[in-house]
Amino acid sequence: MNSKVASDRQSWPKADFSRVPYEVFTDANIYRLENERIFRGPVWNYLCHEVELPQVGSFVTTWVGDTQVVVTRAEDESIHAFENSCAHRGAQLVTAVRGHAKSLTCPYHLWSYSLKGELTGVPLLKGLKGKGGMPASFQKADHGLNVLKVQTHGGLIFGSFHDDPPDLKTFLGPHSLSQIDRLLVQRKPKVLGYLRQRIPGNWKLYNENVRDPYHGSLLHQFQVSFGLQQPTMKGGIKLDTELKNTWNHSILSDTDKDNQALVAQAYEGTGKFNPNMKMADPSLINVPLDLGDGYKTTILSIFPTLIVAQVDNTYAIRHLRPKGTDGVELHITYLGFESDTPEQTHDKLLTANFIGPSGYISLEDGEALRLVQQGIRQRRPGGHEVLEMGGVGPIQDTDYLSQEISIRGFWQYYHQIMGLGNDQPLGETQ
Ligand code: FES
Ligand SMILES: [Fe+2]
Repeated sequence: MNSKVASDRQSWPKADFSRVPYEVFTDANIYRLENERIFRGPVWNYLCHEVELPQVGSFVTTWVGDTQVVVTRAEDESIHAFENSCAHRGAQLVTAVRGHAKSLTCPYHLWSYSLKGELTGVPLLKGLKGKGGMPASFQKADHGLNVLKVQTHGGLIFGSFHDDPPDLKTFLGPHSLSQIDRLLVQRKPKVLGYLRQRIPGNWKLYNENVRDPYHGSLLHQFQVSFGLQQPTMKGGIKLDTELKNTWNHSILSDTDKDNQALVAQAYEGTGKFNPNMKMADPSLINVPLDLGDGYKTTILSIFPTLIVAQVDNTYAIRHLRPKGTDGVELHITYLGFESDTPEQTHDKLLTANFIGPSGYISLEDGEALRLVQQGIRQRRPGGHEVLEMGGVGPIQDTDYLSQEISIRGFWQYYHQIMGLGNDQPLGETQ
């Protein structure tokens, strides 16, 4: 089995994770292990946001790895989550994406369940006219749905299949906690809309992408051409102690905006930058930042599948739903705030055009991931990614953006939680 290979020194030849074996993106055995050791392992998986369960009986379907999960709000307002599979013979229980119900009834033999996932009704339990029915030993209490542990923080609902998951706040870490507070708690969020995008690339390629501010000013020509992002701008990354969660941030000053000549110099010879390009209607790029703290872009990436992002004035929760080795569904929940004026809501809907499958900015990310997946599928076995931008050795916070150090942090944690062995002190490279 190839995943055996992924655990030896040949596959992970550098202790600082500056080399990553390509097989982690293509090997079906590794994908199976991820579902077992990560999504059913000692992590907290993002499920949905509390505002999506506004009343008793509200439900939402979501995904944890390969497992579809139903999240509900029960009569006592508590939140519950369970596998979307009937306890009888396994039928998918809920087919709607979201909705409202007093109880959940399986379409096949009509077993019904409470909003907490308890089995409450079994038609023909006692049979008819003394014949048939379940044996006396059958107890409804033994046949509830497979539930997940649920915890919430700042309106985000997380679930875990693990018997002994870590404390949620410790799992999130201080930077995540403060960013969740900044983006989702200080103002009460509301959902402006959803987008789903199927990207033909492995789910971890997206995790790399959001931890990689290096590509921002190179791949995303729109940002550079119209002064939203510049290689000169200030910013950096902060990691949690386990290195799995990353907060990237960038601040654009007026000096950066006036730096078009410098940028033209940096792009010289690429044919990719035209300092004279102008938008016929620049209203999209002139929406003022409404948080007032100067951050132009902040991307909070929480292991394994959650991203809470502010891009200019766009606020969105991005959720990764892996679909085998070669695909991922990116589910985007666009947010506004209860306190927004109609103008602010209009502006947020306008800037939502930056993000998503045809977003002026993130259009290219989906395509970049497709190209990587295609490229590595064609390689001869045994190759590695090279992650050296920003420096090799210790994995630590930076006050600059051209770096891939946070990607190495992701891989270190991944390697550890997957039990791939080969753990060495950080910074000791071969
Ligand atoms: S499979 Fe659900 S009631 Fe039979
Ligand atoms: Fe990007």
